[in-house]
Amino acid sequence: MSAQTPASVRVRAPGKINVFLEVGDVQDDGYHELATAFQAVSLYEEMVATPADEITIDVSARGPVDIEGVPTDDRNLAVRAARLLAQTAGIDRGAHLAVRKAVPVAGGMGGGSADAAAALIACDALWGLGMPTSELVRLAARLGADVPFALLGGTAVGTGRGDQLSPALARGRFDWVLVPNETGMSTPVVYGELDAHRRRHAVDIGPAPRVPAVDRDVLHALRQGDAGMLAATLRNDLQAPALHLRPDLARVLERGESSGALAGIVSGSGPTLAFLAADESSAIDLQVTLSAAGLVALHVHGPVPGARVV
Ligand code: C5P
Repeated sequence: MSAQTPASVRVRAPGKINVFLEVGDVQDDGYHELATAFQAVSLYEEMVATPADEITIDVSARGPVDIEGVPTDDRNLAVRAARLLAQTAGIDRGAHLAVRKAVPVAGGMGGGSADAAAALIACDALWGLGMPTSELVRLAARLGADVPFALLGGTAVGTGRGDQLSPALARGRFDWVLVPNETGMSTPVVYGELDAHRRRHAVDIGPAPRVPAVDRDVLHALRQGDAGMLAATLRNDLQAPALHLRPDLARVLERGESSGALAGIVSGSGPTLAFLAADESSAIDLQVTLSAAGLVALHVHGPVPGARVV
């Protein structure tokens, strides 16, 4: 085997929390214009890619993740990512992708997007392509709105569909406690519920913001590394529709907020809840309290880097 084709490549890619998400109008392509601030957190998908004749995948769980709903055929986003990369490079190569998932499935944390980003990085290295990052980011955007951020990681502002990224300055670290939920939610259904809600209440809440923008206070809090300030500015326009579809989540949100969290928020389109803690030790206390109440609670921190070879 040549130096360009290693026997295997191991990659990890982070899940994300949207600390701010303003959703505008639905566009002709069915996507909503939005403005978001992403933070990559230390809950990682792991992928080992090895040479194979075809592009194949197997998926296993790392921790309390229900992987039953994850397709292992051509619908799998990581498989599609590997295929798109091979096609773009004009090569006829295969790879076997062994994925160990820690990010909740259909949980609003971009787990599938992280898998796709991991596949781009892993196959680029396995096949010795050396594709420029800008090209990988372009391919990522074709795979899904959150895939470019899973490549980039850290802290970033996303506009357009969420795929037009600019890195944001962030200082220090933020400690979160995540509470995943057994039953996943469909992202298109949650966006659809937001649209329906806006139609129902058009008189009271007015039209969607014409050009969504990330609140300056959010960027300031991230720049300062100030958890208290960030807690006061957390916002997710998908939270109300997610809670409307899943009223049970509101109780868990209240439980976290009354157990020492600075604030809680639905992550992305849900149902994972993300509780921001004042610091590491508060997060550990919160995790213990929520676990004792019978909830699955995971302590993570952000920001962390995007998909990379380890
Ligand atoms: O790009 P991705 O596959 O992650 O998007 C899943 C679905 O979420 C889209 O098909 C669309 O219904 C919804 N979506 C949206 N506006 C966005 C991002 C996602 O309506 N900006």
